[in-house]
Formats: sequence, C-alpha cells, structure tokens
Amino acid sequence: MARILTGVQSSGKPHLGNLLGAYLPAIEMSKNPKNDSFFFIADLHSVTTVTDGAERKENTLATAAAWIAAGFDTDANTFYRQSRVPEVCELAWYLSCFTPIPMLENAHSYKDKLDKIGKGKKSAINAGLFSYPVLMAADIIGYDADFVPVGKDQKQHLEITRDIAYAFNHKYGETFVIPESKIDEQLMVIPGTDGNKMSKSYGNTIDIFQTDKALRKNIMAIVTDSTPLEEPKNPDTCNVFALYKILADDEQTASLRQKYLGGNYGYGHAKQELFELLVEKFAGIREQFDYLINNPSEVDDKLVVGEEKARDVISVVMNRVRGKLGFL
Ligand code: ADP
Ligand code: TRP
Repeated sequence: MARILTGVQSSGKPHLGNLLGAYLPAIEMSKNPKNDSFFFIADLHSVTTVTDGAERKENTLATAAAWIAAGFDTDANTFYRQSRVPEVCELAWYLSCFTPIPMLENAHSYKDKLDKIGKGKKSAINAGLFSYPVLMAADIIGYDADFVPVGKDQKQHLEITRDIAYAFNHKYGETFVIPESKIDEQLMVIPGTDGNKMSKSYGNTIDIFQTDKALRKNIMAIVTDSTPLEEPKNPDTCNVFALYKILADDEQTASLRQKYLGGNYGYGHAKQELFELLVEKFAGIREQFDYLINNPSEVDDKLVVGEEKARDVISVVMNRVRGKLGFL
C-alpha cells in the first residue's frame, strides 16, 4: 500500500482549473486499490492570506464539497480539515527548529510575495507566510506519506519537506518517511478567460459551481479577437477553442475546428457550444455540489470521521518524534 497525500488551501471556491488540474487527477489516483489516500483541506494555510473567518468557513465547505462531488470516496480513504488535527501544529514547531532560515527565504511562497510587494516592505509579510513550507512539511511527514501529487508550482515545497525530514532523521535516526512528489508533467495548465493560466489571483477563472445563467455569462466573457462573423477564424489562437479542446472528444474537437475554418461562425456560437459542453460534462458534479452546500452537516459528518482516522495516524508518528526529542 502506498500512502498518497495532498491538500488544497481553502482560500476560494474551486474553479475549473483546480478541478481539472488537481481534484480530478488526485481522485483518479485514489481509485487505485494499491493506494491509501489522505486528502485534506489546508485551512490553516489559508490564514496566511484570508483574514475573514466567515469567508474561510464558506471556502472550507466549498472545498470539501468539491472533493466529495468530484468523486472522492471518503469512506475508503481519509478526508479531513487540517485545523482539526492540532498535532500538525506541534510537529510544525519541532520541524521549524530543523529548518535553516535561508531555505525559507528561497521558498516561492515567500519570494513571490516579496517580489509582488517590493523588497523594502517585508513588514507586510507575516511569519506564517514565511514558514508556510514548514507547516506543509508537517502535513506530509506527519502522516508517513509516500507520494504527494501536486502541481509543478509545489515542487520546491516538496523538496523543502524532504530536506527537513532528512535533517531530522540525520540527527535522531530513522524517524520520518521521506516523501516523493508526484508531479504529472503531462498535466495541462488550464487557461483562464483571458488566455493566461486560470487562477484566483488573476481574476480569470471559470466557476463551474454557479447557476447556469451566471456560468453562461462567465463563458461569454472569454476574451476573443475581433474577426468578423463571416470570416474564417484560427482555432489555435482562440481561448474558447483551447478550453473546448480540453473537454471535448476528438470528433467534437474536429467538428468545431471545421466550423472555425469555414467562416460564418461567430465566437458567440463557439462560446455557446463550450457552455453546453461544460453543463453536460459537469452535470453530476454540479448537482452533487449544490446538494452538499445546502446540506453542510453531511459534509461535516464525513470530515469528522476522517479527522478521527487522521489523528490516529499522526499520533503514532508524534509518539516517535516526542520520544526522540525527550518529551516522553
Ligand atoms: P489558484 O491559482 O486559483 O489560487 P491554487 O493555487 O489554490 O489555485 O491551486 C490549487 C490546486 O489547483 C493546485 O494543485 C494547483 O496546481 C491547481 N491549479 C490551479 N490553477 C490551475 C490551472 N490553471 N491549471 C491546472 N491546475 C491548476
Ligand atoms: N501548498 C499547497 C497549495 O497551495 C497546499 C498544501 C498544503 C499541500 N499542505 C500540503 C499540498 C501538503 C500537498 C501536501 O496548493
């Protein structure tokens, strides 16, 4: 059995890019009977950026509902909120004592923020954001995880995790499992409505968990060029086509390509086809998501069960660590 572990921050409502780039591939891995999967909501990490409690609560519910709606089997696996397993904070403290400052100064989570606000404004960065990779390391090695499926953007955080685990093992002998990242290089970066990487921070997301009317409006806002309706269009430079291609089968894609090349076919028509495809593809997930948002206690019940399982697992690791540190 290999233990697969991954988390998603509850810093917003999951969008199409999250679903195709993180949730669905991880769920596919969890279906392999050789894998024991731990998927969690990184609500503690979200405190580094989201300050409003009600907003966090809403995002946590939406993130959890998305995992369940997308097909994660929470009975066969372990599903939990990071914050409900307080051992992870204790472990993060120990690990921080094995983390050299320059390693954190080089971490993307910190450097990107520093680049954004300007190097002279360090006072605007909180220590939580600075030590973000240490909490992430505790998330992973606290559960003896073997593999961590993440996007390329998290690769460096995984390397930091491994370095911290090595440093501890070197000092105290075999204590932690050294995890491996599972970065799927084939995994596509889903483009947003403006053609850049779809991301909350760029305001270019497609929110599939909204009403049909709002979703249609979202799709109609995809940026296209101004080629007149009657003229042929280039599918390979069009954002609508790029998204359609990701979701459609070969036949549908070839058919839309012909319509672009044939002329007398407007971007509005293509957007309508994309909208209909999204509605068709995600009908089950959207329905289930809406149900769960309206029945939050069902989501909570599943999480509470998972949190008990998670605590049992991390407790064993904590006893190993506390023993080595002389706390027992
Ligand atoms: P955002 O960029 O919207 O803030 P997050 O950083 O919270 O999204 O990402 C959560 C997960 O979704 C990560 O595993 C990340 O790799 C994945 N992800 C986010 N945006 C995309 C995208 N446009 N294409 C593919 N995967 C994505
Ligand atoms: N940092 C990850 C992200 O932004 C979320 C995360 C927190 C995570 N802890 C983790 C991912 C542990 C994998 C394993 O996407």
